[in-house]
Amino acid sequence: MNLTTKYLGLTLQNPLVIGASPYCDTAYVARQLQDAGAAAIVMRSLFEEQIIAEQRALVHHLESSADSSAEASSYFPAFSEYQLTPDHYLKQLEHLKKTLSIPVIGSLNGSRPGGWTEYAKRIADAGADALELNLYQLVTDPTQKAAQIEAGMVETVRSVTSTVKIPVAVKISSFHTSLANFVLELEGAGASGVVLFNRFYQPDFNLEDLEVLPQLKLSDNSELLLRLRWLAIVSPHVKGSLSASGGVHSPEDAVKAVLAGAHTVQIVSALLKHGPRFITTLLNGMEHWLTEHGYESVEQLCGAMNHRRCPDPSAFERANYIRILQSWRV
Ligand SMILES: Cc1cc2nc3c(=O)[nH]c(=O)nc-3n(C[C@H](O)[C@H](O)[C@H](O)COP(=O)(O)O)c2cc1C
Repeated sequence: MNLTTKYLGLTLQNPLVIGASPYCDTAYVARQLQDAGAAAIVMRSLFEEQIIAEQRALVHHLESSADSSAEASSYFPAFSEYQLTPDHYLKQLEHLKKTLSIPVIGSLNGSRPGGWTEYAKRIADAGADALELNLYQLVTDPTQKAAQIEAGMVETVRSVTSTVKIPVAVKISSFHTSLANFVLELEGAGASGVVLFNRFYQPDFNLEDLEVLPQLKLSDNSELLLRLRWLAIVSPHVKGSLSASGGVHSPEDAVKAVLAGAHTVQIVSALLKHGPRFITTLLNGMEHWLTEHGYESVEQLCGAMNHRRCPDPSAFERANYIRILQSWRV
């Protein structure tokens, strides 16, 4: 069985990639994941806010923030609360490159154009095989128009891709009015691939203290469905790579993501639940499924259930929506 896949111009031994998470903080754990069969690994993110805070500290201008009030700054973790300082991040990346034989993908996290994007070059110089740029942003200002926000994101992508020679994947959320068009815009700005999707960590209310309760719930595979839909829609149109992130918890989930058009499948929650060896279970299960169903390669599977042969995907989606509502009787 040929499990190899091309992702961001890299040839990977199979489609299973460890998504951005604390798994790269310890080279020993990253090595366990590699030994279990992971084909590539994404480091946790360095954040725009973290890099800007360090740059300000360097020039002794900590209080002279032009674009954020003291109160806004106080929402963010203190510099020392981040797991890796920017310098440690680069050292850890170099260490991972010496320890691992699989590709190591660095991660930058921010959405607004600015000097912080120059850090992409430092990540590339430290040996990253590729870079993932996470555009996580929750827009709350009602005066900002969607087009203006997306233009800023595209500019950020362009400033990163023009800074580095390594391939850049862009990790996005599903909240874009014309998502397929936005993906093409990202490609136009030099992105070699797109990761669908960010998960939004949704805070709850504590009714006793009337406080906002930040929480991180791991995913389950109901979250995969959103990814399958958009992978299937976007996949016939992209020139570059697609990666599924969110809700892959079984070999069948991984197979579905590839059928929809993903070149790689990123996994985090399932590993946090079951441990690094779960990668082997996923890999063996995928291979078994492919053999049972007469496939010879992952490449053959990739995109086999995307919308390429659907003459009018919008009508298809709307028709299914109407049909499913009409199927209920009380
Ligand atoms: C503990 C934890 C830390 C994470 N850290 C990052 C990060 O630094 N950067 C990032 O882009 N995504 C981060 N993520 C998101 C994951 O990469 C992934 O997109 C998300 O968990 C959905 O995949 P899953 O369903 O397999 O968990 C993190 C997720 C978890 C659970």
